[in-house]
Amino acid sequence: MNILITGVAGFIGSNLARELLKRNHRVTGLDNFSQGFPRNIEDLQENPQFTFLELDVLDQDLAQKLPESLDTIVHLATYKIPRYGNALLTLKINTHGTENILEFAKTKKIKVVFASTSDIYGKNPDVPFHEESSSVIGSSKIKRWSYAVSKLFDEHLCLAYHDEFDIPVVILRYFGAYGPGQSPSWWGGPQAVFMQAILEEKPLEIHGDGKQTRSFTYISDTINGTIAAIEKSVAVGQIFNIGSTGELSILDLALKVWACANKPGEPPLEFKDYNSFNGKYEDVMRRVPDVTLAENILGFKATKILEEGLRETFLWQKSLYQTK
Ligand SMILES: NC(=O)c1ccc[n+]([C@@H]2O[C@H](COP(=O)([O-])OP(=O)(O)OC[C@H]3O[C@@H](n4cnc5c(N)ncnc54)[C@H](O)[C@@H]3O)[C@@H](O)[C@H]2O)c1
Repeated sequence: MNILITGVAGFIGSNLARELLKRNHRVTGLDNFSQGFPRNIEDLQENPQFTFLELDVLDQDLAQKLPESLDTIVHLATYKIPRYGNALLTLKINTHGTENILEFAKTKKIKVVFASTSDIYGKNPDVPFHEESSSVIGSSKIKRWSYAVSKLFDEHLCLAYHDEFDIPVVILRYFGAYGPGQSPSWWGGPQAVFMQAILEEKPLEIHGDGKQTRSFTYISDTINGTIAAIEKSVAVGQIFNIGSTGELSILDLALKVWACANKPGEPPLEFKDYNSFNGKYEDVMRRVPDVTLAENILGFKATKILEEGLRETFLWQKSLYQTK
C-alpha cells in the first residue's frame, strides 16, 4: 500500500513508518518538526520506499504537495495538552489541520485513520471507558480541555466526512503510549519525564498527590493496533480504544521506572500542587480502557509487560542522553 503518515517525525509516527516499511509498504511521511525530531526518522531516510516531506498540515496548498496515489492516510500530526499554555495552536492545528487532511482525502476517497485520544473521556468517573462512554469535559476556563475538545471535534468531523462523502475513516483513541522515540519532556508523558529526571539526578516530579491512574501501552502494541486499523476494511466507520487495560497510579509508575533504571531504594519525589501551574489545571483521576471492540474487530490486545517495556525505554532514553 501507499501510506501517508502526518506527524512522521513524532513518537508514534516514526515507529509506525518503520514497521510499515518492514512490511513492504511504501510510506510518505510529513512533518514540520515543531514537536518531532529529525533523529526519529534518520534511519528511514535511507530506505528508497520512504519519502519525507517537510510540510505543515495547516498549509492551504497541501493537496498539491502530496503524492498523487495514496491508499491510506494515518493522521497523527497534532499539538497535545496545553498544560503550560499553547491552547491556540492546539485548537488550530487539531481542527484546521484535520479538516485540511479530510478535504484532501475527499478528492480521491482515501481511507483516513485518525489518531484521537483517551483524553476525550475527560472526567468521566465510570471506568473502564468503552467507545460509547460519555465525554465529561471541564470548564472552558481550564486550558487543558482544549486538547480533548479539539480531538472530539475532529472525531465528529471524520464521521461527518464518512457519512456525507463516503470517505472510509477509522478513529483510534490511544491510551498512554510509551517507548523508544518518545519525547523526553512532558510531551512524551510522565514515564519520559521520570526517566529524564533519573538521568539528570533530579527528583521525580509528581503532579497532585500521584494517586491519579493511567494505563501505559508499549509502542509495539500501539503500532499493531494501528496497522490492523489500516489493513482491515471492517474497521471503517468505527471508533476503537487502543491501549493496555492495566491500571496504575502515577506514584506506582514513578516507583516502577525507578526500579527499571536499576536504582536502589525509593526515588526522591517532588510533589507539585495543581494550583502552581500557569492558569487553572484539572486532572483526570482514573483512566483505563475497555478494549473489547478492538479485540473483537481488530484482533488487538496489548501484550507487552510494563516492567519489560519500561526497562527497554529507559535504556533507549539513557543512550539518547549520553550521546547529547
Ligand atoms: N503518545 C500517546 O500516548 C498518545 C495518546 C493519545 C493520543 N495520541 C495521539 O497520537 C498522535 C501522535 O502522538 P505522538 O505521541 O506521536 O505525538 P508527537 O508530538 O510525538 O508527534 C506529533 C508530530 O506532529 C508534528 N506536527 C505538529 N504540528 C504539525 C503541523 N502543523 N504540521 C505538520 N506536523 C506537525 C510534530 O512535529 C510531531 O512530530 C497525536 O495525534 C496524539 O494526539 C498519542
